[in-house]
Amino acid sequence: MPRILMVTSEAVPFAKTGGLGDVLGALPQALRARGEDVAVLMPRYGSIPLDDAARVASNVMLHPGWMTFPADFWVKQVKGTPYYFVDCPPLFGRDGLYGSHGSDFGDNHIRFSLLSHAAIALSRQVFRPQILNLHDWQAALVAPYLRGFYAHDPTFFGTKVVTTIHNLGYQGRIGPHLLPDIGLGPEQMRPDLMEFHGDVNFLKGAIVYADWITTVSPTYAREIQTPEFGEGLEGLLSARANSLSGILNGVDYSEWSPETDRYIAQRYSADTMEGKVACKLDVLREFGLDTKDPRRPLIGIVSRFARQKGFDLIAQVARPLMETGARFVVLGTGEREFEDMFRWLAETYPDQLSVRVQYSNALAHKIEAGSDFFLMPSRYEPCGLNQIYSLRYGTLPVVRATGGLEDTVDGQTGFKFWGYTGNEMLGAVQAALEVYRNEPARYRKMQREAMHRDYSWDASAARYSELFRRLLA
Ligand code: ADP
Ligand code: GLC
Repeated sequence: MPRILMVTSEAVPFAKTGGLGDVLGALPQALRARGEDVAVLMPRYGSIPLDDAARVASNVMLHPGWMTFPADFWVKQVKGTPYYFVDCPPLFGRDGLYGSHGSDFGDNHIRFSLLSHAAIALSRQVFRPQILNLHDWQAALVAPYLRGFYAHDPTFFGTKVVTTIHNLGYQGRIGPHLLPDIGLGPEQMRPDLMEFHGDVNFLKGAIVYADWITTVSPTYAREIQTPEFGEGLEGLLSARANSLSGILNGVDYSEWSPETDRYIAQRYSADTMEGKVACKLDVLREFGLDTKDPRRPLIGIVSRFARQKGFDLIAQVARPLMETGARFVVLGTGEREFEDMFRWLAETYPDQLSVRVQYSNALAHKIEAGSDFFLMPSRYEPCGLNQIYSLRYGTLPVVRATGGLEDTVDGQTGFKFWGYTGNEMLGAVQAALEVYRNEPARYRKMQREAMHRDYSWDASAARYSELFRRLLA
């Protein structure tokens, strides 16, 4: 029974900005259900209440670099899994996980260095792991610290480091003059260690020093070894190809199923689809679109507005896209450029597109249930969860065939396009609408097929277990 400590900056139900939070809210429990002894460590942000938590250590002195921060450790149990929190109000007691008002905090390198030191302190004093599983750049510094300062600490003899890459687009980079802030020295500034175009690269450290690297879909594991997707780390990743694998994320169907969803207007299943019409009317109303013609096709989008997500393709073909007659409901927040683009579309085509620039879990559920199609034209997509939710809601995904989108959508359950161009995306949308309008029996069959696909965590957790056990054998 391997003991595993997962280090992360997000986990549902405590903190989430994207799919990372979903994964760390579900994978640990799925592993525990398989008998693994898993715990999670994350920062205690200001938004996380401690009234139902137990304190496990107080006033632990942590030294990210030349500064010292006292921190407390707390724990809460989530369905039997301990979630540990490092509580350091000057660094984490703020609104926002990584920044506020659209810009990152200037001391993120110190904040997440402290998280990494906290992982080591917790491992030495409270929960002694055999596997340290580091998620994304925010947890990355554990690896160089462990293989450097703690190389001779018996706590970590035999401890394996597994780095999980959820998104190579975020690496955590700082100038070398900031090395003293994170307690590392100039010896890291080598191209085979943490140096990257003159900067210090956190994620690179976690790749270089890891025993194994996973990413969140098999296709993305291959893609990141190429210049198109490698974000400059393709050379290193292909050099480490023998210690790199892709394990597809699962989804938590207790949260995302039309049979039990508590946010939607009417529940439904593959056999009782009437409820989906009520959901469509509800989401149209919610977005201020007219409800007179519920047969008119509706395309949903729920997303972080980031370059990764491919919305510039929509701008390329806005006019012909609207000429298809489909309507769009869009929910998201993020980069100003895309917020403005969707607002402009909503002003220009008020009866066809409506956008809500906000974060709302309830609206996300309503869109999944009420739409006929779900559009994800991603430039790259490590796994993607929304298209998997869509399948379960009988909302056929229209996706660019990349990363996890390639691995979870096929011709029986959705529509794909390959080239990163507006016209290819338009072609896929047109093909989808064609089936919806002229081949209702085929559309219905695809819905059924989609709703029966199973991406529950069991299978994915089994692959993590297998990997952890193999590394310790
Ligand atoms: P990523 O992690 O790249 O953002 P994923 O598809 O893996 O992409 O996960 C995104 C998660 O965040 C999903 O659970 C999705 O429902 C949620 N989400 C994204 N934007 C919003 C929003 N504006 N409101 C509510 N939920 C959102
Ligand atoms: C990332 C990716 C997304 C993935 C999620 C969870 O943020 O962008 O594709 O599903 O992490 O692994």
